[in-house]
Amino acid sequence: MYIKVVPCLCERMTNWNVVGIFTAVDMSENRTGNAPPVLGPEIYSPWRASRLGCITESLEENLLLELVGDPKGLDVLDVGCGDGDLAFSLAESGACVVGVDPSEGMIDKAREMAELRNSTATFQCDEGESLSFDEARFDLVLAKTILCFVDDAPMVFSEMARVLRPNGRLVIGELGRWSFWALQRYIRGRFGSRLWRRGNSWTSAQLRTMAEDAGFTVTEIRGSVFYPRWAFAARVMSRFDEPLGRMTTFGAAFIAMAATKDGFAS
Ligand SMILES: C[S@@+](CC[C@H](N)C(=O)[O-])C[C@H]1O[C@@H](n2cnc3c(N)ncnc32)[C@H](O)[C@@H]1O
Repeated sequence: MYIKVVPCLCERMTNWNVVGIFTAVDMSENRTGNAPPVLGPEIYSPWRASRLGCITESLEENLLLELVGDPKGLDVLDVGCGDGDLAFSLAESGACVVGVDPSEGMIDKAREMAELRNSTATFQCDEGESLSFDEARFDLVLAKTILCFVDDAPMVFSEMARVLRPNGRLVIGELGRWSFWALQRYIRGRFGSRLWRRGNSWTSAQLRTMAEDAGFTVTEIRGSVFYPRWAFAARVMSRFDEPLGRMTTFGAAFIAMAATKDGFAS
């Protein structure tokens, strides 16, 4: 009975539309063959258009942009850029942005959007674990919610360090482990979602350790998205998000970290 009730409850929660993108992706999983499920661009617009998605995405993006500071004139790499949303914001602020993602569907969508938005951001297929750029090519590397899907997260950190110039900056945003959202993903992973069976979430200590092992000095870690996956809760609690996120990452569905690549000043 337990086995039947829990997935059924998860399904009901999906129908109530109180869950976000990471439940929407369950429904869009590639369930054919043995290929691992992949995220496609088709899930992003409905998620961003939903009230919960709109509040959550803007909290996350604003936090990352705050940690980035003024990107004007910087060479920026967005690893796992998806459909390019963050890359467009940075390009509009005067950065020279390249977005990479292993998903051809995501890159096609990002290129289509770049044309529509008349953006200078460019996009290409590439994997975080083996970036096809020379070392010390970028001033700033960004990665938003990609480590949850990669096979070798420490390798991604070491690649991001390689392509950064000495004293270059890394800004990442990841799925926080100690949150309602992570609990729900865990349940979905246990009861059917192949995507979430392989999806990881992180503690701030784990992110810090991987960054330091790759040669970064961590300068700031912040939490965000402390509410459960419910639009009403998001509306009420989002006003406390910033002060809470400065105090702790416990309970945060999103953890942002800024770091500097160790090196000599030029
Ligand atoms: C949740 S989406 C985030 C997309 C985008 N960063 C954003 O926040 O809108 C995760 C992205 O990571 C990409 N991804 C998966 N495996 C990856 C890898 N090994 N290296 C780089 N990106 C990867 C996926 O294709 C997907 O676009």
